[in-house]
Amino acid sequence: MKEKIIIHNLHKSFGQQIIFSGLNLTVYEGEILCIIGKSGSGKSVLLKHCIGIIKPDSGTISVDGQPLTYTDDSAILKKFGVLFQGGALFDSMNVYDNIAFPLRRQGVSEEVIAHKVPELLAHVGLKGIESKSPSELSGGIQKRVALARAIAKSPEIMLYDEPTTGVDPITAGSVDRLIVYMRNTFGMTSVVVTHDMRSAFRIADRIAMLHNGTILFEGTPQQLQECQDAVVRQFIAGKASA
Ligand SMILES: Nc1ncnc2c1ncn2[C@@H]1O[C@H](COP(=O)(O)OP(=O)(O)O)[C@@H](O)[C@H]1O
Ligand SMILES: [Mg+2]
Repeated sequence: MKEKIIIHNLHKSFGQQIIFSGLNLTVYEGEILCIIGKSGSGKSVLLKHCIGIIKPDSGTISVDGQPLTYTDDSAILKKFGVLFQGGALFDSMNVYDNIAFPLRRQGVSEEVIAHKVPELLAHVGLKGIESKSPSELSGGIQKRVALARAIAKSPEIMLYDEPTTGVDPITAGSVDRLIVYMRNTFGMTSVVVTHDMRSAFRIADRIAMLHNGTILFEGTPQQLQECQDAVVRQFIAGKASA
């Protein structure tokens, strides 16, 4: 398998608080990698490092063999699509303009956009809601629209931060299916931060557990089930009963 993202010896502290102390993680092309770990362990901070929003104290992040340099990373950053926690659509814009936004910024013509928006909506199982405003939509539908917007620029890599948090189990199931559908349809490398173990077991090719600043476990869902490490076991047992 080809390495898509390599995080090497990442160190990061906020003041006295150590977040990463020599973290190593490889994401392979086309896989769905779920990152688990307790709240506050640094999962969101790790995603933000991947897209250069947060700069490491030391260590490197490379994508397709190109390290982030924090001067001009635009060619690398173009490869990413992100679905942040909450999904955050622009309230002042209708669904059409929300999805058109990243395309307009890239200078895509209105003619192409008019064609593209319904096509993107179809990928997330929606139709005919272009003129709705986000406030008229349920949380689950908002998430789908946010996903349609995130894939508008055909990213090679999708980052999802807690995509099923705060939605009901049925919606969570449909978000999971969409993540798998996107990967299967477009071959996107997918990194999914989640505290939803059921979802991780359902969609992941591999699971990595973040704990005390490093990756404590990395392997397939089956290897995770069989892992005998006490901290890992406790985390899974706690989540399974939660
Ligand atoms: N920009 C920041 N400045 C200072 N501290 C931060 C910043 N971002 C996150 N943190 C802290 O880093 C820790 C890890 O945060 P986060 O990655 O959001 O955790 P989670 O695993 O729940 O996503 C938390 O204690 C959080 O308060
Ligand atoms: Mg988080």
